[in-house]
Amino acid sequence: EERLAIAIDGPAGAGKSTVAKLVAEKLSFLYIDTGAMYRALTYAALREDISLSDGKEMRQLLDSLTIRLVNEKAYTKVLLNNEEVTEQIRSNEVNQHVSLAASHQAVREEMVERQRLLAKEGQVVLDGRDIGTHVLPNAKLKIFLTASVDERAKRRHEEQVKKGIDSDLEQLKKDIARRDEFDSTREVAPLKKAEDAKELDTTSLTIDEVVEAIIDLAKERI
Ligand code: C5P
Repeated sequence: EERLAIAIDGPAGAGKSTVAKLVAEKLSFLYIDTGAMYRALTYAALREDISLSDGKEMRQLLDSLTIRLVNEKAYTKVLLNNEEVTEQIRSNEVNQHVSLAASHQAVREEMVERQRLLAKEGQVVLDGRDIGTHVLPNAKLKIFLTASVDERAKRRHEEQVKKGIDSDLEQLKKDIARRDEFDSTREVAPLKKAEDAKELDTTSLTIDEVVEAIIDLAKERI
């Protein structure tokens, strides 16, 4: 039921997925990484040489894809038409194109529909950009997670290095700032704090502190 959902939105690299996953684990809720869905579509478009700026073609492509998110202990496994693409969807190339892919009305309509269906499966934590504003406007708890660009780039850099993925801090800063700008200024469901969302600036907080703060809020409301 929608009323048991927690929506976590915010700019790139604010720690949404890490935090959302931990919150979901502690509450025994289902975690749904909506960014991974836009990433999987982007990956498929790049591979199949489909024009990412063509909303109609992107929607047609999406209609031909199944995207499954399988929560494993440490990460979410992403399956695109049953092929595992967990790592591929985090590439620099996908990072650079995903916001364009996610900007089309026709794409977002279908994604939002799929996300609402997933959210119906039970008590859920969704993270993304438009969860509190569009996907689940009636979510019981809405969090807007932020942090400075430098801090967010640093975190993503450390995350990539830990995973053994090539990473360039300065490039990440540029990429994050560009993606935020694009996501916040697009016409359809831009990245924006929902009016009733609680804003948490995590720049000087640890992951555990952020998780605790959200759990406390959740206990008050759920
Ligand atoms: O959360 P993540 O960084 O993986 O999201 C990748 C991109 O997908 C975002 O920069 C944004 O363009 C898009 N996105 C979106 N709406 C969501 C989740 C992600 O537009 N709910």
